[in-house]
Amino acid sequence: MAIDKTAVIGFPVDHSLSPIIHNHWIKELALDIKPYEKLNVDPNMFEEQMNNLKAEGFGGINVTVPLKELAFNISDETSNVSKKLRSANTLTLSSDKINADNTDAVGFINSLDKKIIEENITNKKTLVLGAGGSARSVVHALNELGSQVRLFNRTPEKASILLNDLSINSSPVSTEELDDYANSSSFIVNTTSLGQKEGECNNILSFENIGVETFIYDLIYNPKRSSFLEQAEAKGLKVQNGLRMLIEQAACSFQIWHEIKVSVSDELMSLLEGV
Ligand code: ATR
Repeated sequence: MAIDKTAVIGFPVDHSLSPIIHNHWIKELALDIKPYEKLNVDPNMFEEQMNNLKAEGFGGINVTVPLKELAFNISDETSNVSKKLRSANTLTLSSDKINADNTDAVGFINSLDKKIIEENITNKKTLVLGAGGSARSVVHALNELGSQVRLFNRTPEKASILLNDLSINSSPVSTEELDDYANSSSFIVNTTSLGQKEGECNNILSFENIGVETFIYDLIYNPKRSSFLEQAEAKGLKVQNGLRMLIEQAACSFQIWHEIKVSVSDELMSLLEGV
């Protein structure tokens, strides 16, 4: 059955760009469905509010922080990748069941230039900073792309748990090892929230001796150029922010619900860059 009502849920969800993205495609394709909404859902009332959404006729729900694990836990059917990550960002609701998927890892992969994958990731050393929910998807994606991925986190225990959960045979990078490991990595991605707040500087690692061919990625897209990317750019390194990943994960959700493969147009990119 066609899905008519879609939304993103989070807590808080007010700053989510997902409605702009989904509504852009709904309009572009002239789909005769309701506009995509954003809804605050209190984690303490998660099941109850999910039942309400089902009763209101929502068929597709995107899930953002801090609800992705809860969403996975209440689902009846789960895709392989959501099982692996134990988290869901895309729910499909029908009268008798909830289907869970996670498009973050594939969204990250689709956000990357093929050349970067070939030259900087596959069979290369990569470094992920952070061990939260988004790090899980990124580490999984880099591992799937055949990279030798290692992880640094302020709280090393969380990095060990993540690697163990994803069955990745590597150890967390220690503070002492960090700069040396970064200098020999060809792809470094920040998944921490450091740099999101105004005036906050991400100085987890030193860019002093990072190789000139190293590609620097920050999942943060607001600000467009985080302090992490600014430091990298000042050294002449190639950089990318998280906006493309945000759009690509949305495109995968859109395809799951509406069975339409959408393209990421320049118009959409500039629409979001202007927000
Ligand atoms: P998300 O789901 O977006 O990944 P999260 O699960 O809250 O968010 O994870 C945030 C990540 O940013 C964590 O790895 C956190 O480190 P800890 O595990 O040590 O808490 C990291 N982080 C947040 N603030 C940080 C800071 N000031 N310095 C270093 N790391 C930070």
